[in-house]
Amino acid sequence: MNRGGLQTTAQHLFHGLAPSYDSVLDYATLYQDRYWKRFLIEEADLEKGLRVLDLACGTGVLEDYIEGRGCEVVGLDLTERMIRIGKERRLRAGSLVVADAERIPFGDETFDVVLSCYLPKYCRTGGLASEVQRVLKPGGRVLLYDFTRPRGFLAPFHAFYVYGVLKILGAVAGHISRELEFTFKELPEIIRRSTWDQTMPEVLQGRGFGQVGKKVLSGGVVTAFWGTKSPASP
Ligand SMILES: C[S@@+](CC[C@H](N)C(=O)[O-])C[C@H]1O[C@@H](n2cnc3c(N)ncnc32)[C@H](O)[C@@H]1O
Repeated sequence: MNRGGLQTTAQHLFHGLAPSYDSVLDYATLYQDRYWKRFLIEEADLEKGLRVLDLACGTGVLEDYIEGRGCEVVGLDLTERMIRIGKERRLRAGSLVVADAERIPFGDETFDVVLSCYLPKYCRTGGLASEVQRVLKPGGRVLLYDFTRPRGFLAPFHAFYVYGVLKILGAVAGHISRELEFTFKELPEIIRRSTWDQTMPEVLQGRGFGQVGKKVLSGGVVTAFWGTKSPASP
């Protein structure tokens, strides 16, 4: 699927899912997302006063984990309805804006940290990394994770879950909601086609990021990457 097609699919998917998103996130990840978000926040080592950008913030779930750390948070998402619901539910969340992660409407060197959950599979890795590099201050950090396909002994269990359980859930959900049916049918295909994790480390290094790291979580269902923008921009 080309970039325009991915954007349209993502907007369609999340427009319909927005009202039930927070609970679907828990049961579709078997409550693992809470662990993955805590990992990301701990790894980010957020300090008081930092300016943080949450790319593809959705309804702002990650903001719940950042709250209380004294950071100034901006959330950005492509789907207007996700942002609207985030604003209604999370009155204390920072500012939430509708925009494309590959065209971030902020100036160069604006943020100390960029965080992102579940975005790379909807983007061109290079376009995403360039924009993140541009808006980060020198020495700033990016940390993100998204679904990946486990290799090794967990691969068959993952395939059973993604292509079996999620598809069955989709068929059942179809009796309740067309949107849920669409989500559970479309998402496994997007995960299956995406190769974002294979290119991310080289792409980050190519955009001038150092200290690039990677952590495979929950047996490879999700992979996290991080990197630090060099103190002197390339
Ligand atoms: C699974 S949700 C994740 C929301 C949030 N990060 C979380 O962890 O709960 C994926 C989000 O990515 C957003 N998205 C997809 N493509 C995007 C893009 N190009 N720019 C900004 N947001 C995008 C969707 O609108 C959706 O809200």
